[in-house]
Amino acid sequence: MSETTSAPRREQPYDLVVTGVRLVSGDGVATGGLAVSGGRIACLLGPDERPPARRTLDGGGRHLLPGLIDSHVHFRAPGLTHKEDWAHASRAAVAGGITTVIDMPNTVPPLRTGEEAHRKAELIEGASLVDYRFHLGVAGEDPSPLREVGPREATSVKVFLAGHHTAPHVVRDPVQLEKIFRTAAESGLRLLLHAEDDGVFGLLDGWRGEPSGYAEYERHRPRSGAIVAVARVVELVRRHGTSVHVLHASTAEEADLLTAAAYAGLPVTFEVTPHHLSFTAAETCRVGARARLSPALRDAPDQDRLWQAVLGGHAATLGSDHAPHTRAEKLRVPAEAPPGLPGVQEMLPAVHTGLRRRGPQDSPDAQLSCLVRMLAERPAELFGLDERKGRLCAGLDADFVLFDADERWMLEPGTIRSKCGWSAYEGWTMTGRVLHTARRGETVYRLSDDRADAAFGAADGRWLDARRPSDVEPR
Ligand code: NCD
Ligand code: ZN
Ligand code: ZN
Repeated sequence: MSETTSAPRREQPYDLVVTGVRLVSGDGVATGGLAVSGGRIACLLGPDERPPARRTLDGGGRHLLPGLIDSHVHFRAPGLTHKEDWAHASRAAVAGGITTVIDMPNTVPPLRTGEEAHRKAELIEGASLVDYRFHLGVAGEDPSPLREVGPREATSVKVFLAGHHTAPHVVRDPVQLEKIFRTAAESGLRLLLHAEDDGVFGLLDGWRGEPSGYAEYERHRPRSGAIVAVARVVELVRRHGTSVHVLHASTAEEADLLTAAAYAGLPVTFEVTPHHLSFTAAETCRVGARARLSPALRDAPDQDRLWQAVLGGHAATLGSDHAPHTRAEKLRVPAEAPPGLPGVQEMLPAVHTGLRRRGPQDSPDAQLSCLVRMLAERPAELFGLDERKGRLCAGLDADFVLFDADERWMLEPGTIRSKCGWSAYEGWTMTGRVLHTARRGETVYRLSDDRADAAFGAADGRWLDARRPSDVEPR
């Protein structure tokens, strides 16, 4: 944690001063506060500093995290707003301590060009409580339009290697995949991979037919699909030097292979989701449609390896993969029910609860530092946002979350903000609660003192600019 600096003497009061908090960074925790001016952090404050301010917030000794970045959400606009929309999803986000999201391109129509990104930003303007960026998708056979994409529009491209209900364009042709890797490397774009092998799944479906129940779901979408695809991705990175971020790693083998690839110096990072850390395949049998996911939930040894990837710093980011579907869609027969669950609101408390449960003797401060690394610092670096987001530092946007790390509470249906209205975590007892979220110095979420109610701020989230991320050293 960097030393808190003395507040510079000022004639004017600050817009906001936060006192009595434990400031969390990826390196540690320090007691103090911060001052906000013009939507940015003006300075960090020592424990006894209370400069004049128009508004004050006393944190009562709780933790203050930087506003979190969820680099994997499906907010469903345009075209799929019967499942989710930015008004609902961004409320869910701020209730979960997220102030910036990066949205996935598998909408209707899919997002595939810089021009379309401008149109999408216009569509969202005035509807979002969080700031946002977009990942692009790939269009058709020829990836060369990616060369035209500037960092204003996007610095990252998602590629689906296996198909499912919401996957728009699945890249099955190895020659095309090769071209995409080469073009991305030459254009300085980061590739985000849904790394499951469509050929493996096609073969299995051809032999066994579609799954008729959730008990056999994992056998139809098995770990071999993910492992084969990740091995292929690593080989393509070796050949082309493309920077890749593998999404939703679900198996021990993927975690090992990707960690080894990064260790060997390849520009490879990976993401872990809260649901693969929270549920196992047994839940898919028991909970059925709500736990139907792509990639599928795996068994306890995989889950243990994913936790190790979080605790050991092998995985770079946590991403919610917030992928809501309506109840009616989820209730279709297994073969037709779309995979995905909401998670942007649940991610911080669910993973924090898991950290506490797995490491009851570990330092709570260290657990929060781990979350800040994976949900703020690393995503800001990977997606070129680190000049504005991801840390509590003077000069950066005043995005922060007041978090009570010890409060226990139950996730009840009435607290769910996603438009889909359901959560796989219903009934979970969570440890750690978001009390207050601010974005660029403005309160966007505040839980009432009696916990019965919550107030939301203005939907004036902005489309962020980013710099092209220089290759971040794999850690
Ligand atoms: C996602 C969706 O529904 O858009 N579903 C999922 O199960 N993860 C798509 C995806 O991330 O692959
Ligand atoms: Zn995916
Ligand atoms: Zn996703």
